[in-house]
Amino acid sequence: MLKSKVETFFTEKYNSKPILVKAPGRVNLIGEHTDYNMGYVLPAAIDKGIYFAVQKNDTKNIVIETFLNQAEQIVFKLNGHSHTFTFFWGNYIKAILEILLEEKYTLKGFDCVFGGDIPIGAGLSSSAALCCGFIYALAAVNDLKISKGKIALIAQQAEHRIGLNCGIMDQYAVLFGKKENALFLDCKDISRQYVPINLQGYSWVLINSNITHNLAVDSEYNKRRNSCERVVSEIAKSNNKVHSLRDVTATDLEKVKAIVSHTDYLRASYILEENNRVLRMITALENGDAQKSGEILLEGHWAMSTRFEITTEELDLLVSAGQQLEGVMGSRMMGGGFGGCTINLIKTELVAEQSSAILTAYRKETGIDAEIYHLKIGDGVHRIA
Ligand code: GLA
Repeated sequence: MLKSKVETFFTEKYNSKPILVKAPGRVNLIGEHTDYNMGYVLPAAIDKGIYFAVQKNDTKNIVIETFLNQAEQIVFKLNGHSHTFTFFWGNYIKAILEILLEEKYTLKGFDCVFGGDIPIGAGLSSSAALCCGFIYALAAVNDLKISKGKIALIAQQAEHRIGLNCGIMDQYAVLFGKKENALFLDCKDISRQYVPINLQGYSWVLINSNITHNLAVDSEYNKRRNSCERVVSEIAKSNNKVHSLRDVTATDLEKVKAIVSHTDYLRASYILEENNRVLRMITALENGDAQKSGEILLEGHWAMSTRFEITTEELDLLVSAGQQLEGVMGSRMMGGGFGGCTINLIKTELVAEQSSAILTAYRKETGIDAEIYHLKIGDGVHRIA
């Protein structure tokens, strides 16, 4: 088991009993790119996660390592002489430590070992799990009181420093997720509610296209955000109450249709409708209506494909392959875009048969082996020892 592997590695290397923290990845049922537009999202924490073992070391060094794919270690020197970090994950850690020091948190030296099973670049927020889990573990070992809300903001800031101008959904899902539930988050005022997502007789299944993305390096994500912001500033010229697309109505948008670019118009209209899909999905879930939930997933996917333009041919293929199969109620690409997983709602008795049919169709067309993950909704970041 991953947890004991991380714990044993730590104990054998450092000869002390560590504090253990688990930070999960996340899925998102619906509400894509709505978070930085102050809209609605419906994510959930999953069972896959990153485990952290940490303990004080009475030095001025923060030593962090992972052993999963290959042994990788970085040392952050609190006296200010850190080496350049060569590992990609090290940039997140470095950004976090720098933010904490800038905000005058007092840090002591500690050792940290981590390892996880969230596939990277698959739209399951491995980086939010890394950042939120690391800050949570660091707070525990340094006796710092940092609220989960503040952890979310620091983790988000770290992403911004790396280059992804993300919203707050991933961090909230990773920190506040709850078993069996989705988290209905209003990104405008950060109010949240839990929504049970079990639909009797149906299962949520993830299919990893195995097309990986790196949103921080691919600026397409940020370009979508820029489009949305351009539309907002156009509308705000004649209405100073408008600060984000959340404050924009369909009528407001139509008024600037001829002024903004067609691409920006389509992107903004996608966001307005996506917010609405989140609300409709909640109603469908509350009514136990798998048919409707599936329809909303499909509607969301094709809107992301044709209007927001964040899917890929491969993801479209996974979704249309399912669309033709009995018992596959619907599916959609999940996360920032340009790769990663689809989330599928499938009649439980047909899951094995239909998911393997999707995989076969996908392999035939693309030559790529996709992977199936049976979704288990877990709790947000927590200490396990
Ligand atoms: C990434 C970002 C999130 C959110 C999603 C898209 O995961 O980190 O803030 O914008 O993409 O919904």
